[in-house]
Amino acid sequence: MLSYEIYKRLDYYGCVYLCGTQPQLAMDWRYWARFFTLLYEKVQAKNTGPPAINRKQPRRVHENIWCLYRSKDKFSDLKITVDRITKKGTTKVVKGKPMRIWGEGKRKWRVGVGYPTSVFYGKKVDKNSPEYVGHPTQKPEKLIEELILMATDEGDWIFDPFAGSGTVSTVARRLGRNSIAVEIEDKWIPMIEKRIQVEKTRTSITDFISEDMSD
Ligand SMILES: C[S@@+](CC[C@H](N)C(=O)[O-])C[C@H]1O[C@@H](n2cnc3c(N)ncnc32)[C@H](O)[C@@H]1O
Repeated sequence: MLSYEIYKRLDYYGCVYLCGTQPQLAMDWRYWARFFTLLYEKVQAKNTGPPAINRKQPRRVHENIWCLYRSKDKFSDLKITVDRITKKGTTKVVKGKPMRIWGEGKRKWRVGVGYPTSVFYGKKVDKNSPEYVGHPTQKPEKLIEELILMATDEGDWIFDPFAGSGTVSTVARRLGRNSIAVEIEDKWIPMIEKRIQVEKTRTSITDFISEDMSD
């Protein structure tokens, strides 16, 4: 059983994110419930979705993400001491105290403290999005960033068995996490490799921590 195989290999304090739609996720839960504890649900609100299946249920414009923990006795705290630094639309994340940085009378940097909420309102990634690389079900980097930050520390390992365009590995690398990605379709592999290569050439997040911020 997949849930048992993952249970055997996962770090004691590790977690699993199950992404999907209802009622499938709830139906799958019976396999996971034997080994895992459901800690919380996060909802990805989308501005679009497929046509209504029938007239007995509302048209679905969201996805559910369930966070399952392996250990039943202890959950680690969500990583809440996170500053977001946005410069020209690029998100950089550093750990530290809440802080605002203003540059030369103009607001060059925008810094906010993110305590995660249960709903992600970011736009669905489509061909009009700057981060779009061509995969039809590409996840928003910001959503993946939140999920990674909530559950892992720098240096931790993340396994993404349905890599698609490689968003998880791309963001994992940006945040100093290690990752292993698996993708069944050959055509997406070059896309994943390219994203990782581009990520490698980006400025390290430590370059964004000025002396002012490090104390
Ligand atoms: C929903 S997409 C993932 C999108 C990804 N999170 C992203 O942001 O690009 C699911 C991917 O899983 C792949 N997939 C489906 N079944 C698989 C399997 N058994 N093993 C590995 N990959 C699989 C599909 O080819 C598809 O690219």
